[in-house]
Amino acid sequence: MYGRRNTFNLSLYGLFLIYFKCSSLAGVKSIGHDTTVTNGGNATLLCHLTETEENLTHIVWQKHTRGNPERHTFFIIHRDGKTEHQSYLQDKVKFVGDIKEKNGSIRLLGMSLLDDGIYTCIFNTFPSGQILTNINVTVHDPPELVVIIPDDPTEAEEYHCLVDCNPTPTSYIWIKVNGSTPHSEGNKLFIPKSSSDLNGVYICTASNEYGRVSGVLYVDNTGSTDICWGLLGLISSCAILGFTVVLFYTVSRAQEK
Ligand SMILES: *[C@@H]1O[C@H](CO)[C@@H](O)[C@H](O)[C@H]1NC(C)=O
Ligand SMILES: *[C@@H]1O[C@H](CO)[C@@H](O)[C@H](O)[C@H]1NC(C)=O
Ligand SMILES: *[C@@H]1O[C@H](CO)[C@@H](O)[C@H](O)[C@H]1NC(C)=O
Ligand SMILES: *[C@@H]1O[C@H](CO)[C@@H](O)[C@H](O)[C@H]1NC(C)=O
Ligand SMILES: *[C@@H]1O[C@H](CO)[C@@H](O)[C@H](O)[C@H]1NC(C)=O
Repeated sequence: MYGRRNTFNLSLYGLFLIYFKCSSLAGVKSIGHDTTVTNGGNATLLCHLTETEENLTHIVWQKHTRGNPERHTFFIIHRDGKTEHQSYLQDKVKFVGDIKEKNGSIRLLGMSLLDDGIYTCIFNTFPSGQILTNINVTVHDPPELVVIIPDDPTEAEEYHCLVDCNPTPTSYIWIKVNGSTPHSEGNKLFIPKSSSDLNGVYICTASNEYGRVSGVLYVDNTGSTDICWGLLGLISSCAILGFTVVLFYTVSRAQEK
């Protein structure tokens, strides 16, 4: 009688284990988010586990980057919230998630171009084992201003529409507000020096497959202050891509006189 009951209990336990394992594996998901950061900026790598009642033993972060292409572990978060990291990362990596919420998110400070790469967050759980997610981290260079002197500064004033985005723009369109189509070539606009009827407001619109941006340029060739430039006009989804428009003019020697 006693023995039978024991057997029953054992098989029930076995059934329970099977059920538990299946149900936990079916729904368990690790969610990570790819991210983009500017050179020198901080990146938050989000990673969390959903739909599981399983116990988390620890979370491991690995990476392979441009600076170190070999995949290696750089950060470990234990069940009690204690963290371990490679010594050179002492002040560069912070745990910002919450173990109880099965949130393994981290923040990486002062990202450099060498930190561009693939990061992997690994949840070690019981009884399922390891659940891992890859996160792509892209490090962009911030926009830089480059002054380009025209070939012949006496002939024309040359303006460049500079756009920092990835992928680079596939088209540039220059228009003059209330005016005829100006002389342009790709991202360059040419305005003859002598004519004052070319004064006015110019708009450069750059686009790629993800969206477009516009910048406005004010030209006034009459006074001693030759050009009033500026305005950064941002439209549409480009902002998400880290799209920035910079308009600038070339300073010719003739003007400085
Ligand atoms: C990055 O984080 C550090 C420390 O939290 C902060 O001092 C710094 O301003 C942050 N940098 C940027 C670009 O947000
Ligand atoms: C999870 O941990 C709790 C508390 O330590 C324990 O009671 C429970 O049995 C554990 N669950 C599993 C599936 O190991
Ligand atoms: C995980 O933690 C990060 C940082 O605190 C937070 O931004 C994010 O919303 C959290 N994720 C979830 C699913 O709670
Ligand atoms: C992440 O990187 C992998 C490997 O380079 C690539 O195959 C995948 O398309 C990338 N995912 C995104 C969303 O960029
Ligand atoms: C363009 O023309 C409209 C209507 O004549 C006028 O209101 C507007 O100020 C002009 N814009 C510029 C930049 O000249």
